[in-house]
Amino acid sequence: MLVFNADFQTPTDFSSLFGRQAPLVLEIGFGDGRYLEHLQQAHPEWNVLGAEVSLGSVWRAFRRMKRCGAEHVRLYKGSGRFIVRDVIPEGGLDRVYVNFPDPWPRKKHLSNRLLQVPFFQILSSRLKPGGSLHLTTDHPEYFAFSVAQGKASGCFVVEEGDPPPATLRTKYAMKWLEQDKPIYHARFTLSSVADSPEPRNTIIPMQHAILDGTLTEVGTFEKQVRAFEGGHAIVLEAYRDLSGDGLLFKAVSEEPDLRQELIIQAWPHEQGGVLVSLQPFGNPMTTKGVRESVMAVADWLVSQGLTMQKAWI
Ligand SMILES: C[S@@+](CC[C@H](N)C(=O)[O-])C[C@H]1O[C@@H](n2cnc3c(N)ncnc32)[C@H](O)[C@@H]1O
Repeated sequence: MLVFNADFQTPTDFSSLFGRQAPLVLEIGFGDGRYLEHLQQAHPEWNVLGAEVSLGSVWRAFRRMKRCGAEHVRLYKGSGRFIVRDVIPEGGLDRVYVNFPDPWPRKKHLSNRLLQVPFFQILSSRLKPGGSLHLTTDHPEYFAFSVAQGKASGCFVVEEGDPPPATLRTKYAMKWLEQDKPIYHARFTLSSVADSPEPRNTIIPMQHAILDGTLTEVGTFEKQVRAFEGGHAIVLEAYRDLSGDGLLFKAVSEEPDLRQELIIQAWPHEQGGVLVSLQPFGNPMTTKGVRESVMAVADWLVSQGLTMQKAWI
């Protein structure tokens, strides 16, 4: 399984994911996968994990990995921050590479930057003793920011140096080198583990609701957006079941580093009324955003004349 699903509810066993025990190395933001190809050729003794948010890039890297017969590479489509915080076990990681991370230069977007104190503190507890993060970038301001944040985390010794030659052959490296831009490099070596890094996501019980009324009378559906602390639950569309009066709702839960697409059903309940619950399709993780999405559907049904009998978790 070259592309894998990561989940914090069922901890990932990396040895069985790779089919062997070996040092675990992560590249965050692998783009078209050129550096992953280099890593697996230069270090066949490593298990190489890649995390990338762009689906197009994941497919480009997937095809590259197939072409080069990469045996010990696994790709994850999603945020590197999520993988590090919620999936990697304590002390499970040997090394992290970040090549040409998005610099988010505008002040109002600074919070999107990956390399910040909270991330360094989480990473400190996921790395093995002596583990390290290797940053290469063309962006002087983000470089200085990352170095300062790494030091401010109190967990890393930072050494600046020349970029390793292979980091100068990625797609973005070549783009910036063609424009004669200088390239910066630093190694962040773990010196101590943070006392209380940001906690992992935890499983929360599934939300359900029972409403009195029927679904035959509900009117036209319009997109529902529900804000909650830390994210948004967005119910996008509703569909009617052809064989009964059940409804299916397509929803998205947006939380820090985690976007989940959901199907929520409103179905006639055996004991009367309408049961609103999450469908397991797509293996969603039961986060606060999922709970809020279920309640957004229940609230919309209430706005259509049904009455809330019971909501429970
Ligand atoms: C400027 S590109 C660099 C790509 C590649 N490393 C290279 O050197 O050619 C930055 C990449 O990071 C990805 N990215 C941005 N934020 C991310 C995150 N939080 N987790 C994983 N990938 C991310 C983007 O989709 C993009 O592919």
